[in-house]
Amino acid sequence: MVGSVTLALNVLITTTAARSLPPRDAPSAHNATSPASSTLVWSDCSAIYGAGFTCANYTVPTDWAVPNGDQIMIGMNRFQSNTTGFAKKESLYLNPGGPGGIATSDLTVAAASFSHEVTSKYDLIAVDPRGLGLSTPIQCDTDLWNERLSYFPKTEAEFDRMVQHNIALGKSCLELTGNLLFHVDTLSIARDFEAVRIANGDDKFNFVGFSYGSQIAYQYAQLFPGSFGKLVGDGITNHAESETGSLVTGVQTYEDSFVRFATWAGTSNESALFGQDVLSLWDQLLVKLTETPLSVGSGPGHLDNITNEEFLFNFPEALISKEAGTGPGWAAVSEALALAFAGNGSGLASFAPAVVDGEIAANSGPFSYLAVGCLDWTYHSTTLADILYKQKLMTTWAPHTQGATQNYGYQTQCIGWPAPVINPPEQIELHTDIPILLVQSTHDPECSYTWAVELQAQLPSSVLLLREGDGHTSYLLGGETAAAVNAYLINGTLPAHNTVLQS
Ligand SMILES: *[C@@H]1O[C@H](CO)[C@@H](O)[C@H](O)[C@H]1NC(C)=O
Ligand SMILES: *[C@@H]1O[C@H](CO)[C@@H](O)[C@H](O)[C@H]1NC(C)=O
Ligand SMILES: *[C@@H]1O[C@H](CO)[C@@H](O)[C@H](O)[C@H]1NC(C)=O
Ligand SMILES: *[C@@H]1O[C@H](CO)[C@@H](O)[C@H](O)[C@H]1NC(C)=O
Ligand SMILES: *[C@@H]1O[C@H](CO)[C@@H](O)[C@H](O)[C@H]1NC(C)=O
Ligand SMILES: *[C@@H]1O[C@H](CO)[C@@H](O)[C@H](O)[C@H]1NC(C)=O
Ligand SMILES: *[C@@H]1O[C@H](CO)[C@@H](O)[C@H](O)[C@H]1NC(C)=O
Repeated sequence: MVGSVTLALNVLITTTAARSLPPRDAPSAHNATSPASSTLVWSDCSAIYGAGFTCANYTVPTDWAVPNGDQIMIGMNRFQSNTTGFAKKESLYLNPGGPGGIATSDLTVAAASFSHEVTSKYDLIAVDPRGLGLSTPIQCDTDLWNERLSYFPKTEAEFDRMVQHNIALGKSCLELTGNLLFHVDTLSIARDFEAVRIANGDDKFNFVGFSYGSQIAYQYAQLFPGSFGKLVGDGITNHAESETGSLVTGVQTYEDSFVRFATWAGTSNESALFGQDVLSLWDQLLVKLTETPLSVGSGPGHLDNITNEEFLFNFPEALISKEAGTGPGWAAVSEALALAFAGNGSGLASFAPAVVDGEIAANSGPFSYLAVGCLDWTYHSTTLADILYKQKLMTTWAPHTQGATQNYGYQTQCIGWPAPVINPPEQIELHTDIPILLVQSTHDPECSYTWAVELQAQLPSSVLLLREGDGHTSYLLGGETAAAVNAYLINGTLPAHNTVLQS
């Protein structure tokens, strides 16, 4: 789905900008009978984000069904190229995915990926979805979050420990976050975008959503079919998938990408594993990691050793792009694995579990990842037996990667979560002629090509543009696919159905 915690734009972050937080108890933000400001007030924040950046806040109801109830803050930043002396242009809203990607941080890096033609036509606006970043954050107990345990329980004791952990963590999030924990689903997020669009005086909602961000795009379109202009999803999820279906397609797309990587690594002279049986070495490494965690060396923000399961959950990040750029690139990954196969884990530090101990805004990313997923996806398994059926299913379809995916993560981590599912999977019914552009690579490790075909069928006015190749999302790679997206954003030109591009 949705890509693991790190997504297209996220992986480009090289700096952590210092930023201020909306206070959760700002009196002006509470019990307002109407939004505090009816139009956005943009103020200079170039000192934080760089030249051309302005920032704004907007107040919305925590629960859109209770417009006069308690309120939260939505924070955002905007990049304007100075082609018209910083006059307001049309707006192009962006989301990097996740859930949990901090859009405002990502935009400082991603802005440079947009062509002059695009930034001459549009202001780029990154809105941090409710619950994270500059918006009123989700908060949880950090010690509980950092507890290590298995999400692949094999015994009743392990299963109970997992559920007890989930209950304790969820309780802490509810205590620290309050009512917002019940309302961070993607439909509420889509309503916030609509409120921000209106407050910013935008005639139409133009949006590029990467990975999970594609769900924001189609759930927005479902709610506000008359409001959108250009809508792009890059790296597609399908929120209509069944519990089991989402597992199977999720593990298959991860396995497919991994096996393609392993084949390349064993046969390419750019690989540190050239000439080796990479699949066999990989399987042996996994057995070793199951017995003893491998030391990865100490470093800021991560644990200093890694288990089999932690490695498998985080390894999709290694496959984000074949060339170095949005991800480390396959050549660098082959070097890290060559060391690991020889018993030296120093190349795997970036796959070790992140330790959450930073400031509230940074922590809110991973917390949102879980909080949004638990409201958006169903999880009916409540016994060890149910979970074991799923584990066996996944290792059957994906013997090398074994099912450590975002979908499976939600189906185990959400058992015992205090907030009920309020945006369950369902088919989109969209009656509009306004074209929508869906973009998908044929071998995405995190967003299945199957989901893209399934979503296209739900959106009759959409065209699915394929990039033949590897990696998670396409636009930021800057090739022919990016040019086709730009033609849509600039001129409204859609590619023909069944267009397949090579870069
Ligand atoms: C948004 O609200 C926060 C918290 O009140 C404040 O620190 C920040 O300066 C505000 N940003 C803007 C652009 O008004
Ligand atoms: C704000 O609204 C909540 C819920 O309606 C209520 O419990 C609380 O007393 C109100 N606070 C103020 C300051 O009016
Ligand atoms: C922006 O452009 C205007 C004229 O178009 C110019 O006067 C101004 O100096 C520019 N500002 C920056 C920060 O580049
Ligand atoms: C690597 O392989 C490519 C083609 O597969 C070949 O053209 C190139 O000469 C090889 N380089 C080396 C150093 O062997
Ligand atoms: C792994 O790291 C944890 C946390 O730092 C530590 O308690 C444990 O002893 C380590 N295990 C191994 C096998 O290095
Ligand atoms: C592990 O590999 C790194 C990078 O090549 C190297 O610097 C380090 O000395 C190695 N550690 C051991 C214990 O061999
Ligand atoms: C938009 O159309 C104009 C006129 O045909 C063309 O010159 C331009 O390259 C197009 N822009 C893009 C991004 O395709």
